[in-house]
Amino acid sequence: MKKVGILSLGRYLPVQVLTNQDIEKIVDTSDEWIVSRTGIKERRISADGEKTSDMAIAAAKDALKNSVIKAEDIEAIFVATVTPDSNFPSVACLVQRAIGAKKAFAYDIGAACSGFLYALTTAKQFISSGMVQNAMVIASDRFTSIIDWKNRNTCVLFGDGAGAAVLGPVQDGGMLADYMISNGEGSDLMGVMADKVRSPFNSSIETAKLPFVTMNGQELFKHAVPGMAEALALAVKKAGLALDDIKCVVPHQANDRIIASVAKRAGIDKERFFINIDKYGNISAASVVVALCEAVEVGRIKKGDKIALVVFGAGLVAAANIIEWSY
Ligand code: UT7
Repeated sequence: MKKVGILSLGRYLPVQVLTNQDIEKIVDTSDEWIVSRTGIKERRISADGEKTSDMAIAAAKDALKNSVIKAEDIEAIFVATVTPDSNFPSVACLVQRAIGAKKAFAYDIGAACSGFLYALTTAKQFISSGMVQNAMVIASDRFTSIIDWKNRNTCVLFGDGAGAAVLGPVQDGGMLADYMISNGEGSDLMGVMADKVRSPFNSSIETAKLPFVTMNGQELFKHAVPGMAEALALAVKKAGLALDDIKCVVPHQANDRIIASVAKRAGIDKERFFINIDKYGNISAASVVVALCEAVEVGRIKKGDKIALVVFGAGLVAAANIIEWSY
């Protein structure tokens, strides 16, 4: 089996910033509540007409700028998203067309906030088995398009954005261990639940209303902390490492208090976690890859460092990857 690593990263965040003070004017909330309960200060909102695919394409181009692998040589494209432009075609095929990756096969992966790591591990299997030489893995979500802006329980939490990684073979290090686990028993805790089924053959059933995200925040919190701490511990063990060997943990950014509790439960100093939730809120699947991209850019992750990525999302779905950084 070939060793596989991340060869380059990219990201795209929409330009429009929505601060907590802006949200105070929309629903009954306060900057103090949002910061103390979540750590979020502001988030990005996609422009009118800016779609999930537009953000995915921008992130892909950013990753290709720093990549030794060119778009025309990419052999597989995976896009993690739960907010595709349309039911089909896939966002991945729209990215393929936009970047001119004519050799690639392309499809989307839906694993909510854990989508990037589910896609990363999928891509790794294709490369290490020899089916493809390389892959582009993207996460792009436009959660602000599925949020009820009258509901303060959810509208303060999410933002829009995308991140991308080019994967290929590496001589040393790379992706050392991968762990994924799902728990469908908790699938009612968060989702976009249509309350009426679209049924054009039966006119007595109305077409579904435009659905918004529903979420049982407290219950999710209770699952997220042990779920992430356990995924992290199991992936580290699979890699044959100790937690002390991990230079930096890049977690899904749903809530600063979740990250603090995961750090405490795992027995790792929170200072070793990379956190940027204050700037972007929860950007779903894109959270972990945007954070990874920024952690590398600011020098928190350097060549040879052993790092952990850990995520949790609706489904319920959790994952962790241990990587020895390649550049
Ligand atoms: O991405 C992966 C999936 N998502 C998650 O993992 C999210 C996990 N959950 C959380 O992060 C937290 O549960 C939330 C941030 C969603 C909520 O924080 P909480 O500390 O669990 O608050 P709560 O839901 O228990 O609400 C506490 C109070 C309530 O008022 P009462 O009943 O105590 O009077 C809420 O009505 O805060 C109220 N509240 C708000 N107040 C001001 C809820 N949302 C707001 C708000 N502004 N935006």
